[in-house]
Amino acid sequence: MASARFRMIGVVLFVMALSDRPPATQDGAFHVILSDAIKDDVTEDWTLQLHCGQFVDLGHPPIDVFWKTPSGRLRDSSYEDNGTFVLSLPSPVQTGNYSCHLPPSTARFLSATSPLNAAAQLYVDDKDVRLSFLEARQGELEQVIEDQENLLENQTNLLQRQALQISQQNVTIEEMEADHLNLATTVNDVLTRINHANCMEWLKLNPHSGIRNVYISGEPITVYCDQTTDNGGWIVFQRRQDASVDFFRGWTEYRNGFGDLEGNFWLGSS
Ligand SMILES: *[C@@H]1O[C@H](CO)[C@@H](O)[C@H](O)[C@H]1NC(C)=O
Ligand SMILES: *[C@@H]1O[C@H](CO)[C@@H](O)[C@H](O)[C@H]1NC(C)=O
Ligand SMILES: *[C@@H]1O[C@H](CO)[C@@H](O)[C@H](O)[C@H]1NC(C)=O
Ligand SMILES: *[C@@H]1O[C@H](CO)[C@@H](O)[C@H](O)[C@H]1NC(C)=O
Repeated sequence: MASARFRMIGVVLFVMALSDRPPATQDGAFHVILSDAIKDDVTEDWTLQLHCGQFVDLGHPPIDVFWKTPSGRLRDSSYEDNGTFVLSLPSPVQTGNYSCHLPPSTARFLSATSPLNAAAQLYVDDKDVRLSFLEARQGELEQVIEDQENLLENQTNLLQRQALQISQQNVTIEEMEADHLNLATTVNDVLTRINHANCMEWLKLNPHSGIRNVYISGEPITVYCDQTTDNGGWIVFQRRQDASVDFFRGWTEYRNGFGDLEGNFWLGSS
């Protein structure tokens, strides 16, 4: 019977332990530290931050520490953040001893000698306060400088990108100009060829003899090019293959040319 009762008590204690448990800190004690001043984004006022912690477990029910200021006032935390309770102190900051206390409700969990039973205390003097505000201002200035440096770097990057784009456009323009020049040269070349075409020029374009247009003294004229005799390139002025064309003609006809260029003809002398 007695063992059953002990078991019962054991179960009750176990259930209590599950639902109610003491808060716990990383090293079994808790501390108050002074943190950098921070600026309220809305009011733009600077406040000093006292941190009390750090709790790895707020216990069950979760605890809420309270603070004692140098003037002896009791105050609640401003907020709690991941096991750290924060008290914000607006400027001007009262100097002296600040202490952080566990609520009396935790007393039943803790032995009389637990460090958590005592208050965590920090003496805040004028020097600490000034230093903290100075550090915060310095941090703010450093942020401004960093922002400026980022901005400068961004603008430098932008300038470099634009310069690259401009130089690429330059290359494109230069290429286009070169292409244009090449095209103009080719066209000029072709025009020159056509204008100065004689049977020699025609030979470069076409190895066969035949009727071609040439320019003689700038005048276009249709001739027969002999591209076989003596390496070719000859304008044929007279060729007599058979008697089908009468060569006994008057000077006028000789002057203007007659006959069939593929057969017997006289080109004419003008
Ligand atoms: C919360 O605090 C614990 C220590 O208790 C730490 O390991 C963890 O990184 C913290 N988490 C955040 C988000 O700050
Ligand atoms: C602050 O507390 C310490 C002990 O923790 C004490 O010696 C000191 O006199 C206190 N200072 C003031 C200004 O109350
Ligand atoms: C610089 O550029 C990055 C992205 O390229 C951007 O996230 C950052 O806000 C910019 N900084 C400034 C100061 O403009
Ligand atoms: C663009 O080309 C011109 C002439 O070709 C040159 O003088 C100029 O420096 C070039 N600009 C860039 C950004 O490359």
